[in-house]
Amino acid sequence: YDYTTVKVALDEGIGWVSLNRPDKRNAMSPTLNIEMLEILERLEFDDRCDVLVLTGEGEAFSAGMDLKQYFRETDHESAQFKAKVRAAAAAWQWRKLRFYPKPTIAMVNGWCFGGAFAPLVACDLAIAADEAQLGLSEINWGIIPGGNVTKAVMDVCGERAAMYYIMTGKPFSGRRAAEIGLVNESVPLAQLRETTRELAQLLRTKNPTVLRSAKHAARRVEGMDWDLSEEYLAAKAAQTHTGALA
Ligand code: COA
Repeated sequence: YDYTTVKVALDEGIGWVSLNRPDKRNAMSPTLNIEMLEILERLEFDDRCDVLVLTGEGEAFSAGMDLKQYFRETDHESAQFKAKVRAAAAAWQWRKLRFYPKPTIAMVNGWCFGGAFAPLVACDLAIAADEAQLGLSEINWGIIPGGNVTKAVMDVCGERAAMYYIMTGKPFSGRRAAEIGLVNESVPLAQLRETTRELAQLLRTKNPTVLRSAKHAARRVEGMDWDLSEEYLAAKAAQTHTGALA
């Protein structure tokens, strides 16, 4: 795995995927978006990766979309070009990640702003450092949290907290992120990697086919009523049992 903006390390069944532009606080540039999609596609079929951990090199998880390369430098491009750049971001940040066949954990090691909330929420589970600082800073830049960030936050946080941070743009700590349901837990930065590793190893003890069905089902039933959900889960259970998904 040889990429310029993302680092991949495979160790004990865990694929550690680190956004790797630390001097730009891992802001997500068009190149990074293209590389991330390719990496996710490759790791899907790489037997050395049972669980995927998404994190960032250096002090940041990610400072969000690259304000220069993603916004300013594409301002004068055609609508078609802009749509292409946007599609590459969405492709990995939530489309691919939300239904990734392997379990995913976001490890929020530091700064996490704006667009970074999309992949954070799209991961199945998330652990933050107490010391991390997160924020929906879009409002301060005169834009709304797009790229499905608003949807992501409304989905996982309580409505009051989501509205508060969308409207104020105030930063908050990893500990607060755990309180509002944005991450599963927060731990001191010094313990972050080990806590994440333990969680990943716990997931590795489960049957991967059942785990994949369980996570996909959890996401699908969200938009269903109880009757439809019952039918769907019965079909999904049968499909899982017969190995049709294997
Ligand atoms: N897009 C592009 N470049 C970014 C960036 C972003 N979202 N966030 C940080 N950078 C770059 C800075 O321009 C700077 O580049 P330079 O060294 O070439 O001047 C470098 O990363 C370091 O940033 P700096 O602000 O000096 O680091 P810091 O440690 O003092 O602060 C942050 C870190 C994340 C708090 C701060 O960079 C920040 O607020 N970034 C914007 C985050 C944001 O609002 N994102 C939402 C976008 S919608």
